[in-house]
Formats: sequence, structure tokens, C-alpha cells
Amino acid sequence: MAKIKPSKGAPYARILGVGGYRPTRVVPNEVILETIDSSDEWIRSRSGIETRHWASPEETVAAMSIEASGKAIADAGIDAAQIGAVVVSTVSHFAQTPAIATEIADKLGTDKAAAFDISAGCAGFGYGLTLAKGMIVEGSAEYVLVIGVERLSDLTDLEDRATAFLFGDGAGAVVVGPSQEPAIGPTVWGSEGDKSETIKQTYSWDRFGGDLAELPRDSKGTLKLPAITQEGQAVFRWAVFEMAKVAQQALDAAGISADDLDVFIPHQANVRIIDSMVKTLKLPEHVTVARDIRTTGNTSAASIPLAMERLLATGEAKSGDTALVIGFGAGLVFAATVVTLP
Ligand SMILES: CC(C)(COP(=O)(O)OP(=O)(O)OC[C@H]1O[C@@H](n2cnc3c(N)ncnc32)[C@H](O)[C@@H]1OP(=O)(O)O)[C@@H](O)C(=O)NCCC(=O)NCCS
Repeated sequence: MAKIKPSKGAPYARILGVGGYRPTRVVPNEVILETIDSSDEWIRSRSGIETRHWASPEETVAAMSIEASGKAIADAGIDAAQIGAVVVSTVSHFAQTPAIATEIADKLGTDKAAAFDISAGCAGFGYGLTLAKGMIVEGSAEYVLVIGVERLSDLTDLEDRATAFLFGDGAGAVVVGPSQEPAIGPTVWGSEGDKSETIKQTYSWDRFGGDLAELPRDSKGTLKLPAITQEGQAVFRWAVFEMAKVAQQALDAAGISADDLDVFIPHQANVRIIDSMVKTLKLPEHVTVARDIRTTGNTSAASIPLAMERLLATGEAKSGDTALVIGFGAGLVFAATVVTLP
């Protein structure tokens, strides 16, 4: 048997830079009320959302990713040509193939970086971060760009009372690179496919190959595209009870306690879920908690890097802070880890 040379990477990995892009159009709750029977007060009190951003036709998945990535690369102080891999987490890039990551890698000016998409819903950022860390420590890339990007407005049924107000669009990106110190803790992740029906698409794209008369129509008779639908209460309960445990496991795996934390950046799904996790985890007063959902809505894979970028930009968090991040959603899937902020 031939002796194969082992690959050799950096001792550890860390997030070196972060960037975000929020679409120009800000959509207040009043706009949502044009298509569902609800109230601004109900939406604010039940979800925490006041406004969200919706992308224009020009603010494509690729365009938003490139904007966010450009900022992350500049923040990391590296050149795009040094990036060895581009990982894009999204559920709202509408072409099955090729992966949108290749176009983004090319337009950013990487030197033929490996590029691929992953589908891990609202846990996508944590999944991508875990892959990036692995690549850097294993040695297949020195720097990895991880992008979470969504145009969930394309997948929202504006007549569905249970979801119309929830989702937003945007892109968040981080550059992950080598480190001499551990700066990304062990990931606690997994899936619960027995609950896959709780968040799903209303129907699959291949139905367009069949009888269009069977597909759902809006109140004006126009064909409704597939949209995200969910059993809100079931997902809410799962998030509140199970995800606090996963968050605690990530703290334990990193060998730190809640007292050691500076920042908590949970997936931005509902402000009541965030508040409940803060309580269950007994996070002390000094821990800064991301509540970006108020003005960004739920942007799935983009929510954690967008919230991270905003906390750093506003000075609520600072470089070197210790942050617990946790994503969870469609699948159901989850991923939590402790990171040092860039
Ligand atoms: C969607 C969500 C905000 C709904 O909040 P909720 O408190 O669970 O609301 P419920 O579905 O239990 O409905 C409560 C009441 O409000 C009503 N209601 C539902 N949607 C409403 C709306 N948009 N406006 C006003 N009332 C509404 C219901 O009809 C119900 O009325 P009833 O008590 O008279 O029967 C909440 O379930 C949630 O955030 N779930 C998790 C979302 C999530 O994390 N998704 C994951 C994607 S990653």
C-alpha cells in the first residue's frame, strides 16, 4: 500500500472578518397588514418584528452575497485571491444547478476557489462555519468565506397569516482563517427529521410539470409559487425547550460557563424565543444579546452573521469578545458553538 502524505493545516481557526448587506427597501408592518388580517401590535408583541428588508430584483442572492463578502474580506484584511473555499448557505437560490457559490467566488476575484452551496435552513451559518473550521485545520484551505444569504420574500405567501410577517432578505458573510489559539469551539449540531413536516415548502417545484389547475392561487387568481409554511407553535416549543439545551451543551463543550460569555447571538426567529433562551441559560446581565430581528426579521441562514455584524458596527460587541451562536430551523436542524468575535 502506497504511503499517502497527510494534509497539514493550521492548529486552530477563527473568524477574521464579518460583513453584511441589507436590501435598501425597508418594509414596516403596515405593508404586511395590506394582505393579512393582523395588527402592528400583534406582530410586535408576538414576534418582536417592527420592520424587515425586502430585496429588489437587482438585489439578487449573488449581488447581496458579493456586497456582504466584500466587507468581510476587507474586515479580515486579506485579498480575495487568498480564499481557498467559498461556502454559501441558502434556501432561496432558485436554480438547482450550478451552485451560486461558483459565480460569487468568480465575481469576488478568488483564484479558482472551491465553491459550493449547502442547504441547512436557519442552521446554515453554523453548518458552514463548522465546515470552514475543518478545512482550515485539515489544510485544504487557508481562508474560507462562509456566506448566509436569503431572499425569503420570494418564498413568502403574503396571504398566510402564520408567516407573512416573519421573513426578511439579506446576506451576511465571514472570513474564517488560521489561528494559533482556539477561537471556534466544538460544534453541537444535529437534525430531527421526524419533525421535518413542521417547516416545509407548500409544494415542490416538480408540480409545475403536472396539472397547473391543481396548484394554489391567491385571492386574485394568480398562481402562488411554493412558499415556506410552518406549524408555528410546534416550532416555537421545540426552539424554546430543546435549543436552550443545545446552547448549554455548546458552552459545556467549549469549557466555559454563561458567566464567561460576552455576547449571545441566537438565530433571529422570534424575540420571545430569544428572551426565553436567555432566561433558561441564566445569562448574566453583562451578556449582550442580539435582537436584530426587530428591524431585520427572520433571514434564516443570514440572521447570525447579520446580527454579528450589527453588534460590532454599533459597538455593542467588540473584537475579541466571546460569543455563543446558535442556529435552528427547517429540517429540523440545529448548530451551536462558541466563537471569538472578529
Ligand atoms: C409564528 C408565531 C409568531 C405565532 O405566534 P403564536 O403565539 O404561536 O401564535 P398562534 O399561532 O398560537 O396563534 C395565537 C392566536 O393569534 C392568532 N393569530 C395567528 N396569526 C396571527 C396574525 N398574523 N395576526 C393576528 N393574529 C394571529 C391565532 O388565530 C390565534 O388566535 P386564537 O387564540 O383566537 O385561536 C410563533 O409561533 C413563532 O414564532 N413560531 C416559531 C417561528 C420560528 O421560529 N420559525 C422557524 C423558522 S426558522
